[in-house]
Amino acid sequence: MAQDTLEHIAALIAQADHIVIMTGAGASKESGIPTFRDALDGLWSKYEPGELATPEAFEKNPALVTQWYDERRLSALQSKPNAGHIAMAKLQKRLESQGKKLTLITQNVDELHQRAGAKDVLELHGSLITWRGASTGEKQRNLPEDAFESYPPKHREGTPQEELLRPDVVWFGEGLPEDALQEATTQASQCNLYFSVGTSSVVWPAAGIVDLAIKAGATTVEVNPTETILSSEYDHVLRGPSGEIFPKLLELAFPD
Ligand code: APR
Repeated sequence: MAQDTLEHIAALIAQADHIVIMTGAGASKESGIPTFRDALDGLWSKYEPGELATPEAFEKNPALVTQWYDERRLSALQSKPNAGHIAMAKLQKRLESQGKKLTLITQNVDELHQRAGAKDVLELHGSLITWRGASTGEKQRNLPEDAFESYPPKHREGTPQEELLRPDVVWFGEGLPEDALQEATTQASQCNLYFSVGTSSVVWPAAGIVDLAIKAGATTVEVNPTETILSSEYDHVLRGPSGEIFPKLLELAFPD
């Protein structure tokens, strides 16, 4: 990693009034949570998304789908925010103490940004830690600390209102939560520095949000150990793991 680039980006952070950070699964990789498309250990290297992450898959085999998501829920609960999550949360706090703003938008469903102390995180793809009634959409967060007793789990079990429980995540073919998407597009259109962190930028509409920042004249930075299909759209690229890069950026931007 070229030190001058890190120093240049840190100077941009120190001067920015409004930063947006968009994260993907790579930001949680150093917490031990597998990404989706990393060739070696990505989740999708073993399964086809359509087998597990669609309403049709849930309809066809709710036990398989809910068991797979429950395993991911437990792995998220057992994981810890990594140095990258923590540095991003500290950046947000520091900027806010100066009357500035840092908006965290994530495609991740593990709530690790929140557990690192980040506020008002915009979850574009929902959360694994919240489940909901499959018909009523009623949210349920007080779920067992360990695996559900049986699959598929039920909501209001044994009552006339009994229904299947499903993870409160966005499946392929489903719309994103309107309020989170609206707020994310608003913030991206107003920022002056935009980071894309740990995402392969292949899933829309999340992948297209950077275009709003570019239209707003923001400087854009991609943080990813490898190139993505959108790398050429970014003003700067920091080729490395976010758990190493963000603590360095924090230290360089606010050395005290
Ligand atoms: N730090 C930063 N980036 C990393 C790290 C790391 N330590 N390790 C891997 N990466 C990068 C990979 O190079 C890859 O570009 O993280 C990216 C992960 O990409 P994906 O696995 O495609 O995950 P993501 O972009 O978040 O997927 C988007 O697709 O499957 C759906 O809903 C799911 O939210 C997910 C969406």
